[in-house]
Amino acid sequence: MASPTDKPLLRALAGEILSPPPWWLMRQAGRYLPEYRQTRTRAESFVELCLTPELAAELTLQPVRRYGMDAAILFSDILLLPYALGQPLEFREGEGPVLEPIRDPAGLAQLDPGRLVGQLGPVFEAIGRVRAELGRRTALIGFAGAPWTVASYMVEGGASRDFRHVKGWAYRDPAGFSALIDLLTRCTIELLTAEIAAGAEVVQLFDSWAGILPEPEFARWVIAPTRQIVSALAQRYPGCPVIGFPRGAGLGYERYVAETGIGAVGLDSMVPAEFATTRLRPRAVLQGNLDPVLLVTGGAPLTTAVGQLRVAFGRGPWVFNLGHGVLPQTPVENVACLASLLAEPDAM
Ligand code: CP3
Repeated sequence: MASPTDKPLLRALAGEILSPPPWWLMRQAGRYLPEYRQTRTRAESFVELCLTPELAAELTLQPVRRYGMDAAILFSDILLLPYALGQPLEFREGEGPVLEPIRDPAGLAQLDPGRLVGQLGPVFEAIGRVRAELGRRTALIGFAGAPWTVASYMVEGGASRDFRHVKGWAYRDPAGFSALIDLLTRCTIELLTAEIAAGAEVVQLFDSWAGILPEPEFARWVIAPTRQIVSALAQRYPGCPVIGFPRGAGLGYERYVAETGIGAVGLDSMVPAEFATTRLRPRAVLQGNLDPVLLVTGGAPLTTAVGQLRVAFGRGPWVFNLGHGVLPQTPVENVACLASLLAEPDAM
């Protein structure tokens, strides 16, 4: 067994300042990679792709083989959780995920949390396969969606412009809606616990829609469940770092970091470096936050922005990442260019 101190990502998450910084990219496996598009054709559906351990493990490893990131992130999806609870899910070409919406306590009663870990057996098997293949310096990241974000897809039935169904339920009937959030909180703890038991060394909580709630609802539906998940995982796996990504939270990032107990925080591209380093860094390791569009643009704008981020964030513990996922239009050579920019020892 490699000692955890061999892995730059784990060292940075434990508070070490590293130059060059460790790096990985949200959505580093995906359509921008020709080898992904090739492997994708071997499954009938996206859900089947995620639930075939051989294919999920292969997709997890593809970007790491090509670019040597400091971490592999499990190839899966945040919506496999509602799927495993029994909510029908389909990914349609060009349309994204489609779920049969749940909008009231009767819909909630259809879900069966007892199925969760059994249904997701192939996910845990994929984790074991990836761990067996990874080199001494590469960490494996597991993940889940945070309850608010997963609830928003479950209630809207897919992507949404205005989130009126999920917000409407939360405003109209907070007690009823909290039954859904509580169920998702328990299931997320169970899922992440099983991922760590299977071999994930770090977990990230994706709260992609944290940024759409007014402050009282942000506290209730984003901060409170996150705090419960962080404290349950800290009890079970005290050494396992948890990264929270409350995308779009704006000034709410400060309360999020102060009140959830999260060890590391993913910054979206709009979070100013000055705010992050002065207000957030005293409590959490920072991760982020290159605009994913710069990785599509490439060239001088990419080089300049990466240099600026290294100057702004490199004086403290930091994990380089994008502010959101890699876009499908990203040229593979721009990611190679990013890898070589980040390999330069010191930009300061
Ligand atoms: O980061 C990785 O490389 C690991 C795999 C991963 C996927 N989804 C694979 C995926 C991770 C960590 C996710 C997280 C996820 N899934 C989030 C949170 C992060 C974010 O982007 O905000 C959300 C909201 C989802 C739900 C989801 N899955 C949507 C809205 C979509 C359709 C839109 C899109 O980007 O394609 C997906 C599909 C999906 N998940 C794909 C991949 C590689 C594309 C599937 C394909 O067409 O081949």
